[in-house]
Amino acid sequence: MSGSVDLRLRRAGADGDAATAAAPDVPVVDGIPFARAGRDELRAQVAGLLARGEVDRARVALLADADDWWTEPAPPPEQLARVPAATTLREAMGLLGMGRVGDYFAHRWSDPTHLAGLALLQQHWPGRRPVVDVACGTGTHLRELARRGCTDLTGVDVVWAKLWLARRFVCAGARYVCADVTAAPDLAAAHGVRAPAYVLCHDAFYFLRDKPAAAAAMRALAGDGGTVVVGHAHVADPHGEPLTPEGYAAVLGTDLLYDDAELTAALLAGRPPRPAAATDLHESEAVALVAGDPRSPAPVDLGEPLGPLRRNPLYVDGVLRWPSERYAAEYGPRSGYLPARWPDPLPADAARRRLLVDLPEAW
Ligand SMILES: C[S@@+](CC[C@H](N)C(=O)[O-])C[C@H]1O[C@@H](n2cnc3c(N)ncnc32)[C@H](O)[C@@H]1O
Repeated sequence: MSGSVDLRLRRAGADGDAATAAAPDVPVVDGIPFARAGRDELRAQVAGLLARGEVDRARVALLADADDWWTEPAPPPEQLARVPAATTLREAMGLLGMGRVGDYFAHRWSDPTHLAGLALLQQHWPGRRPVVDVACGTGTHLRELARRGCTDLTGVDVVWAKLWLARRFVCAGARYVCADVTAAPDLAAAHGVRAPAYVLCHDAFYFLRDKPAAAAAMRALAGDGGTVVVGHAHVADPHGEPLTPEGYAAVLGTDLLYDDAELTAALLAGRPPRPAAATDLHESEAVALVAGDPRSPAPVDLGEPLGPLRRNPLYVDGVLRWPSERYAAEYGPRSGYLPARWPDPLPADAARRRLLVDLPEAW
């Protein structure tokens, strides 16, 4: 569905297509509203194209928009115009010129950071609460939640193309909104998100320049009695704009913290993760924090991926091959659960160790 919508009036349906209000300020293409702050010119351009019925050109304009950290130029419009015809996530990411970010999202299903995120969900399960995944990327966590029975799912990201990929290839059942979490004070009203909600932000909070604004927006989304979960916030890892563990704890208003490596280890071992004091986490590469209602552990074991399972595509001709040197440097040292060679016979815990993975059908 394409058109425009006043997000303040919007009450989205489960498929993200229920935008019906008349005000033309937030264009919607393929069911995904473009409400990103600081992009007034692009928004006006897209709205103008939609008004003339030029949906394909509007989509191309949105697919070309990247986040502020991205340094590569957008691919030519003719290439972006071919994205809707892509039959797999990887083909689409290739056409979008996503490079190292494409590697990250293609192999998210077995990386240690994603497993740490699953461990957090395992210990602090949203249950029947509405979930908002802030900076959701291509929706890997949303897919897991949908497959485990969560029904009220919203993904928010600044990059429209990532939401398009999420909706098309990874988790069609969530609704999506393109917005900057640090500049979206009425995000909750905009989505019609019911409070209390469970707000998740994984592997992204350290990127956000205005962390107090992001924390306030997430608290507002969660509402009274809600939950804010921040996963993989860099501490010793210098990428982004990291805080100290105490800094994160103060901005999020919590003292429930975990070491990210401990979360990954806990998921792999099938045991609950051990929380730690902020003062003990200074050497951690990254930490996780839970603010508000901590909820209860999941009634299911997220350590065991749901089938159908496929051989981890990182194994080529029986050998573990990282997609790039950069990926190997970042994840190799923390992926000891993936053996260098494909084991024969497979160990009993092959799925838990992500030798076998639950890739999306059109991976
Ligand atoms: C490393 S990715 C993590 C994606 C996803 N959470 C996951 O764990 O797979 C970081 C994401 O943050 C998004 N992002 C960066 N700044 C943002 C902002 N201000 N508001 C919303 N999303 C943002 C990026 O577009 C990117 O998708």
